[in-house]
Amino acid sequence: MSDAKRAECLRGKGVTKIFGMGDKKTVAVDHVDFDFREGEIISIVGESGSGKTTLSKMLLGLISVSEGQIYFQGQPRDIKGGKKKREYWKNIQAIFQDPFSSYNMFNKIDSVLLDCINMRGGKHLPYEEKFKLMSEACSFVNLEFKELTNKYPFELSGGQMQRLMIARIFLLKPKILLADEPTSMIDACSRSTILDMLLKLRDEINMTVIFITHDIGLAYYISDQVYIMEHGKFVEHGAAEECIIHPKAAYTKRLINDVPKIYEEWDLSTV
Ligand SMILES: Nc1ncnc2c1ncn2[C@@H]1O[C@H](COP(=O)(O)OP(=O)(O)OP(=O)(O)O)[C@@H](O)[C@H]1O
Ligand SMILES: [Mg+2]
Repeated sequence: MSDAKRAECLRGKGVTKIFGMGDKKTVAVDHVDFDFREGEIISIVGESGSGKTTLSKMLLGLISVSEGQIYFQGQPRDIKGGKKKREYWKNIQAIFQDPFSSYNMFNKIDSVLLDCINMRGGKHLPYEEKFKLMSEACSFVNLEFKELTNKYPFELSGGQMQRLMIARIFLLKPKILLADEPTSMIDACSRSTILDMLLKLRDEINMTVIFITHDIGLAYYISDQVYIMEHGKFVEHGAAEECIIHPKAAYTKRLINDVPKIYEEWDLSTV
């Protein structure tokens, strides 16, 4: 689908994050512009310290924007106050680099999943209905709900935990999913399965997926649009084909040279 037909989802103008003051000042994100559309898969690629996580925290509304403006569905985003923030978080959800940091370790897994159902307004459903929804979400990510009930998140493996995060997304069905290196703890085989699950979710609910990664090969494999980030700035962006097959910026060329076999790396038939 062309950009003109896709509805506006998240847009940014001059978005900047400055940490600290004076000598200790760090400009982590430096006047970036972006335009993410509904149903698009966007990758933000850059080396360690380039500002990817800082930008994603601003997109999520977890930290303030120092300068510039974020627009959500065409309007300046207004998330002042807890109530507006909670409303906004129905639209945007995240999967983090470290799955261990994403759960309250003292909540059992069924309550993690029940919370999602409640958030979507399913609080008053009969338990059998909730059970059905939770089982369905687990089987979507190849987990068996019956084996998980009564367990705590720390009793799962890293890979299982990341799958549980995707099961949550399946229940929450947000408009935007932000995934910060989501597959880092998973072997190559489950990694491609999980990426396929996210792509399937995109197709099913027209979700916008924002991937944050070091891996330009992965970005090429999954994305419609790619933004290349260096020292807090976007040095290049465009369709994945254009950006990665015909890169203009020296930095993009260098990232590509670090990946010897960009075409073969994500050939699923070899997994
Ligand atoms: N809370 C903070 N206070 C001060 N500086 C910070 C803070 N968070 C991040 N930074 C700095 O901002 C810059 C960007 O960090 P960020 O975590 O966004 O990078 P990244 O691209 O996500 O890196 P990685 O790929 O390693 O996860 C770094 O120089 C970092 O030290
Ligand atoms: Mg990061």
